[in-house]
Amino acid sequence: MTKALILGGTGWLSSRIARRLLDEGAAVTCLARGTRPVPPGATLVVGDRTGADPYAALDGEWDLVVDVSTSALQVARAVDELGDRAARWTFVSSVSVYADDETVGADESAPRHPSSRAEDADYGAQKAAAEDAVAALGDRALIVRPGLIVGKGDPSDRFGYWAAAFARAGERPVLVPPLAGRTAQIVDVDDLAAYVASSRAVDAVNAVGDSIPLADMLEIVRGAAGHTGGVREASEEWLRARSVEYWMGVRSLPLWLPADMTGFMTRRNERFLATGGALSPLDATAARVVADELVRGVDRPRRAGLSRAEEADLLAELGGRSRSLR
Ligand SMILES: NC(=O)c1ccc[n+]([C@@H]2O[C@H](COP(=O)([O-])OP(=O)(O)OC[C@H]3O[C@@H](n4cnc5c(N)ncnc54)[C@H](OP(=O)(O)O)[C@@H]3O)[C@@H](O)[C@H]2O)c1
Repeated sequence: MTKALILGGTGWLSSRIARRLLDEGAAVTCLARGTRPVPPGATLVVGDRTGADPYAALDGEWDLVVDVSTSALQVARAVDELGDRAARWTFVSSVSVYADDETVGADESAPRHPSSRAEDADYGAQKAAAEDAVAALGDRALIVRPGLIVGKGDPSDRFGYWAAAFARAGERPVLVPPLAGRTAQIVDVDDLAAYVASSRAVDAVNAVGDSIPLADMLEIVRGAAGHTGGVREASEEWLRARSVEYWMGVRSLPLWLPADMTGFMTRRNERFLATGGALSPLDATAARVVADELVRGVDRPRRAGLSRAEEADLLAELGGRSRSLR
C-alpha cells in the first residue's frame, strides 16, 4: 500500500490531494496544526511548522511526501528533516515564480524571480527558494507550478465571481474588462489534485490548462450560468479611475490583468499533458463552479469581484449598449 504524507492536507487543494490519494488506496497522514478536519480515512498528526519540533510525532517512511507551504523556511526545514525518509517529494509551487510575465508561451525553463527564504519576501521569491530546497532531492523531486486554480469551494472567489455575476444578472448586462488581446488560463482543482497524487514526473511542471481568449472563457462561464443578457465592456482607464482592481480582492474584476502581463495566462502545458496531466472540459469545470456559486450564494460577501450594487452603479455610469461576447 502506498504511504503518503501531506504537509498540510486540510486546506482547499491539499485536502483534495489527500482525498484523491485515499481514493487510490493510499494510507494518508496529514501534518497540520489541526484548525480544520482531515478527510475521512486520513490520519492527522498535529504539528506547527513554525514551532520547535513539528515533525517529532511522525513515524516511518513514505512513498510520497506532498508539501503545499508558501513559506520557504518551512519547506527547506521539512526537506532537511524528512527528505531521507521519502521516495518521492512533490512540492506545489506556482507560476508566480516566473520573473517574466510578458513573454507569450514560455515553458518551465523561463527565468524565475530571485529566490528568498526571508519570511517577509514576496510569494514568488519564497516559492522559488522553496523549489530550490526541494530540487536538492534530485530525481525524487517534482515541482508542480499551478496557474489559477478553480473549482468548488475556491476560497479566493476569483473564477467563481464570473459564475456568480452571470448567474445573478439573468437577462441584464454584465460588466466586463477590456477583452481584446486578453487571455485566460486555469486549472481545475480536481485535475490538479489527481496529477499531484499520481504523477511520477520529476523536475518542474506547469500545471495549467490551455490558454484561450478571455472572451471565450467568459462565454463558457456565461453559458454554464444560463445568462441571456449581453455584456458591457469598460476600458482599462475607466475602470482604474473608479478604483476597480485587477485580478483579485474586493472591488475587482477577476481574470483581468494589466495590459503588459501578456504572458501570465499563456504558460506552456506540454510537460503537464505528457506526464499524465488531464484537463477537464472547460464547460464541465464551469458547470461545477456555477453549481457551487448557487449553493454558496451569488450575493454573499466575496473575497474577489464586485458586489451586485457595485456592478449596478458602474453599469449605470458607463451607459452604452450591451453586446455579445463574441
Ligand atoms: N489558489 C490558486 O489559484 C493557486 C495558484 C497557484 C498555486 N497555489 C498554491 O496552492 C497551494 C494551496 O494549498 P491549500 O489550498 O491546501 O492551502 P491552504 O488552504 O492554505 O492550506 C494550508 C495547509 O497547511 C496547513 N498549515 C498552515 N500553516 C501551518 C503550520 N504553521 N504548521 C503546520 N501546518 C500548517 C493547514 O492546516 P492548519 O491551518 O490546520 O495548520 C492546511 O492543511 C499553495 O501552495 C498555493 O501557493 C494556489
